[in-house]
Amino acid sequence: MSATAAHPHGRAQDWLAIRRLTYPDLPAVLAIERRSFPSPWSLAMFVLELSKPDGICLAAERKGVLLGYLICARYDTVFHLMNVAVAPEWRRLGIAQALLRELIARTGSPQARITLEVRRSNAGAIDLYEREGFRIAGLRRRYYQDNGEDAYVMWRTPATLEGSLADVPNAREDLLP
Ligand SMILES: CC(C)(COP(=O)(O)OP(=O)(O)OC[C@H]1O[C@@H](n2cnc3c(N)ncnc32)[C@H](O)[C@@H]1OP(=O)(O)O)[C@@H](O)C(=O)NCCC(=O)NCCS
Repeated sequence: MSATAAHPHGRAQDWLAIRRLTYPDLPAVLAIERRSFPSPWSLAMFVLELSKPDGICLAAERKGVLLGYLICARYDTVFHLMNVAVAPEWRRLGIAQALLRELIARTGSPQARITLEVRRSNAGAIDLYEREGFRIAGLRRRYYQDNGEDAYVMWRTPATLEGSLADVPNAREDLLP
């Protein structure tokens, strides 16, 4: 039996609620953030993103308990996925996938242009994003200051949904696995 099938609560779609993230959520967000990243965001960074009127910030909760969150900023016509994390003991149940799908729904277009950076070593997150239509389209060398790791730049666009990078700015086909 897989770890997911063994989980007492089963897959997230059966019990998860997704709603807008608000300032009172931030203590619980910070607790998950600190358990999820080697260089966690500060409270001020979350406050800044929540204050942007065009951003899409989401909370995933069960029975009123925050289990995950997603932060996305909007720059003109492009959405920039800045942060997504799920509490460690609630992973591999579909929570991040549900957050991403709700983000896409809330952009107003199933083909909205969305970009993000991800650590080159973060295979699980890369797999998650690829399953939702993102493709690796660029590399930022030594992007992460804590360990000098490279970032992949990923995009989800009308072209990536068709399997090409034709409408991605400065795309690097040679990075595709
Ligand atoms: C990455 C992260 C947000 C994924 O959250 P999650 O709720 O566990 O992801 P989901 O359950 O929705 O996963 C959906 C799919 O993505 C892929 N995936 C997610 N995590 C994975 C992992 N650790 N290893 C391999 N594949 C993974 C799988 O295809 C998974 O489907 P499956 O469980 O049916 O195999 C979570 O592991 C996390 O918070 N990590 C620390 C913070 C982080 O790295 N955030 C991303 C920064 S860019």
